[in-house]
Amino acid sequence: FSLRQHNTFGIDAKAHAYLPVTSVETLHALRSDVQTAALPRLVLGGGSNLVLTQDFPGLVLHMRSRGREIIGEDDDAIYVRAAAGENWHGLVQWTLEQGLGGLENLSLIPGSVGASPIQNIGAYGVELQERFHALTAIDMESGEILALDRAACAFAYRDSIFKHGLRDRAVVLDVTFALPKRWQPNLRYADVAQELDARKLSQPGARDISDAVIAIRTRKLPDPAAIGNAGSFFKNPLVSEQQRNALLEQYPQLVNYAQPDGSYKLAAGWLIDQCGWKGKNLGAAGVYEKQALVLVNRGAATGQDVVRLAQAVQADVMGKFGVALEPEPIFV
Ligand code: EPU
Repeated sequence: FSLRQHNTFGIDAKAHAYLPVTSVETLHALRSDVQTAALPRLVLGGGSNLVLTQDFPGLVLHMRSRGREIIGEDDDAIYVRAAAGENWHGLVQWTLEQGLGGLENLSLIPGSVGASPIQNIGAYGVELQERFHALTAIDMESGEILALDRAACAFAYRDSIFKHGLRDRAVVLDVTFALPKRWQPNLRYADVAQELDARKLSQPGARDISDAVIAIRTRKLPDPAAIGNAGSFFKNPLVSEQQRNALLEQYPQLVNYAQPDGSYKLAAGWLIDQCGWKGKNLGAAGVYEKQALVLVNRGAATGQDVVRLAQAVQADVMGKFGVALEPEPIFV
């Protein structure tokens, strides 16, 4: 079964078997079937944060469950629950149509609702964890249904328990979001504030912010339907104050952001750009010409092409700045 249509990088890897999943019953049934239970499993949402480095000798479970609803409210928030298989951007737009703000800064992120907590998606000043209330998942080892609150998910920058303790084990079934009743625009990210200024919107609503984010993303990031990619390929690295100061002395233009814990986050895109990689190719993989943090498929790239390019970029950034770049997508 070709996975080409099921990963946004457009890599033509094959899976031994493929199963669309629309309900938890399918997952229970899989567990009790001796043959399928023994196969390695890959859970797929939108396939937008994935690098397929080779054919997958197991069973791909494609989450296709549907449903989104307002399930309640309290003094502070309105609670919205969505099935894992729902499209992320579709959910954001649906909440806006219901008059609910809170997810607008996360507009146009590719992928599914079920994948959103795995890497704690974030953009333009908001991380998923700030709007997350709880989720349910099935533990494929025990068959138990897990109910996890925010603390249990151990969210961090592009990280959660689903990349560690529950990796290859929990399958997210649905996610509940807490959308603030006293909504405030989040204009922390300079690009968003500028875009709204340019549109002469001094008191933007949630819909205006969504429109601004969509415009910015469309300008900077390649549409996976046209050019294969998995968004930012590396995390923005964290360095000590000492290392940041030393780098700043040598490179006064260094893009860096102070973190609450005293460390500094560097813009990986800037580091890669400075190494001259922007717009360059290695084999059939390339560095996107408008955002050096995004690796792209120039046509028929294999997972190995992408890995080779990623390693070359990492080596150059290490050589020039002494900074290690950690890939952001999951390698299969
Ligand atoms: N920059 C360059 N050259 C480049 C790219 C960036 O000099 O080729 C500089 C920019 O000028 C800017 C800084 O680097 O000063 C940061 O760039 P940008 O605003 O594009 O954001 P980013 O740090 O590269 C992060 C997220 C994105 C998210 C944006 C907006 C990570 C790994 N990436 O990118 O997330 O959309 O901020 O919040 O944290 C994703 O995870 O897939 C993703 C797209």
